[in-house]
Formats: sequence, structure tokens, C-alpha cells
Amino acid sequence: MTELLAVSGLHVDYPGVRAVHDVSFTLRQGEVFGLVGESGSGKSSVCAALTRVLPPGARMTAEAVRLDGQALSDLTDEQMRRLRATRIGVIPQRPMTSLSPVTPVLRQLRWHAGDADLPALLGQVGLRAVLDRPRDAPHRFSGGQLQRLLILLAALARQPDLLIADEPTTTLDPTVQAQVLRLLLDLRDRLRLAILYVTHDLAVVAQVCDRVGVMYGGRLVETGTTEQIFTSPRHPYTRALLSALPGRTGAGSRLGALAPGPVARHGCPFAPRCPVVMDVCAAQDPQPVLDVRCHHTKGTP
Ligand SMILES: Nc1ncnc2c1ncn2[C@@H]1O[C@H](COP(=O)(O)OP(=O)(O)O)[C@@H](O)[C@H]1O
Ligand SMILES: [Mg+2]
Repeated sequence: MTELLAVSGLHVDYPGVRAVHDVSFTLRQGEVFGLVGESGSGKSSVCAALTRVLPPGARMTAEAVRLDGQALSDLTDEQMRRLRATRIGVIPQRPMTSLSPVTPVLRQLRWHAGDADLPALLGQVGLRAVLDRPRDAPHRFSGGQLQRLLILLAALARQPDLLIADEPTTTLDPTVQAQVLRLLLDLRDRLRLAILYVTHDLAVVAQVCDRVGVMYGGRLVETGTTEQIFTSPRHPYTRALLSALPGRTGAGSRLGALAPGPVARHGCPFAPRCPVVMDVCAAQDPQPVLDVRCHHTKGTP
């Protein structure tokens, strides 16, 4: 598989807060990479940094962020804006925030879809009925319908290579969440999209991701295939997450949702909660070894 996105040594700081620290991962064409972690672990900051939409006052640095070999740091703001409009689709967490509340949905869709064949696109996601509702504003549609419409716009109208979905189903009920996830996987298969899928819900990770990066305190503490992460987790945080999962199946189950906990400012961020903490953990931030950031992980497999 071709490497589409390569991120190495990404840092994001807000005034007084280090939100993302030395994050590196790759994403291949046709692959779904899950970024999982509790609230505040830095997931949204990673997404915002990749698409250069961090809020004022935030600062990002990176050794390299490449899309299809092109260094994104070389792009001007205008080139980056064009890239966001064409090659990178972003699906927001709350569909309502990216639509005007007063303008009919169909008119907004026509505007966003540009030259694309809107009836055909709507047909592909089972939403042709929207065409019969030319006067209905967003509040007349369900959250699940709106989220599918936004995915449609992000993925089909512009045919990007990379889709960034930051908790796209968090506000939806389980049945609708399952529909949205099916749509995403269907698009991945049909368009060979790479998807960066952000979630705090391990049940969702198990359903949609090929590979997973587990975040804690701004670090990517463990990266692996979904199977590796679920069957042989190596980082104590990943292990704690999995042992807290009462059941790993059930579409849309919220049982795997992560509850935030304390993060150390020095040494390993997980040290205050770690069941196997050592003296060195409070003193030194572990460097990644074999895709795991833990003082227990030794360099030889
Ligand atoms: N605009 C901001 N200004 C200051 N701090 C922020 C801002 N956005 C996020 N943060 C902080 O950065 C850290 C990571 O946040 P975020 O990337 O939103 O995490 P997640 O998406 O995993 O919940 C948190 O400590 C959060 O409080
Ligand atoms: Mg977030």
C-alpha cells in the first residue's frame, strides 16, 4: 500500500499547555487509522494541526508532515486552503455547526457540491429524498441524516484522498452511528480513501479501524494494528483500557468510552495512574521503542 500521510515529530502548544508532544504516524491509501484517547489527550489538536486550522495563539512544529510526498509546511496558507477544499475532507463532530441553520439544506448542498451531480451523490448514500424537501432547513432533518450529508459532501463531491473524521458519531444514537460508520467504510472501499478516524470509543475502533494510535497526555503511547492493540496491548494504559471493557462487541456500544484521568506534567504522563510505575517513570519521559512509549518496553522484540 502507498503511504499517503506521514507525520513525524508533531508538537502543538497552546499558551501554557503542551497539547501534542512528538506524535508520529503514517496512513496508507485505503486505510482507516484510529486515533483513540480520552478527552483532552490531544486528538483534535492533531487534526487541526494537520489541516492548519489551529486557533490563534496555538503553535505547531513538526519534523515533517507529508501528504503524498509533499511537505505541507512548504505550502502557503492559500495553497493549504485549496488542499483542504480538494484533497483533504474534514467531517466535523457536530453537523449543525458546519451548516447555516436558516438556509434550506438542499440549497446549501448545491452550493457545496459545485459541479458534482447532486442527485446521483444523494442516491449513493440513500438520501435522494432530500431532493423532495427543497425548503427544509437543517433542524427539519435528523442528526444522522445531516451527518451523512456532510460525509457525502466531504467525501464524494470533492473526492479527496484523505478524510479526517473527528468524533463524527459522538452525538448520534447507536443505530444512526452504525449507519454512519457503514457509509464511511463503504466510501473507503469505493474511493480507496484514507481515513483518520478520531474517537474516544474503543467499540468504534474495533468496528472501523485497520490500525490504531492510542493517545495519552498528548503522546501517542502505542501504535499497532487493531488486532495487535486488542489482543496483545503492550502499553499499561492500553491494557487498562481493554481490561475496563466489559464487552468488545455490540454496534455503537458506549461501554468502551474513556474517562479522563490525571496526566503528569513531567516524566511519563501516565505515571500517576500506572499500575506498574517505576522510579524512572516520574523522572523521564520514555522515548518510543517498537511503537510503544513506555519504560518497560525493551528494544529487542
Ligand atoms: N484553544 C485552546 N486553547 C488552550 N488550550 C486548548 C485549546 N484547545 C485545546 N486545548 C487543550 O489542549 C489539550 C488537548 O485538547 P484536544 O486536542 O481538544 O484533545 P481531545 O480532542 O483529545 O479532547 C487539552 O488539555 C485542552 O484543554
Ligand atoms: Mg476532540
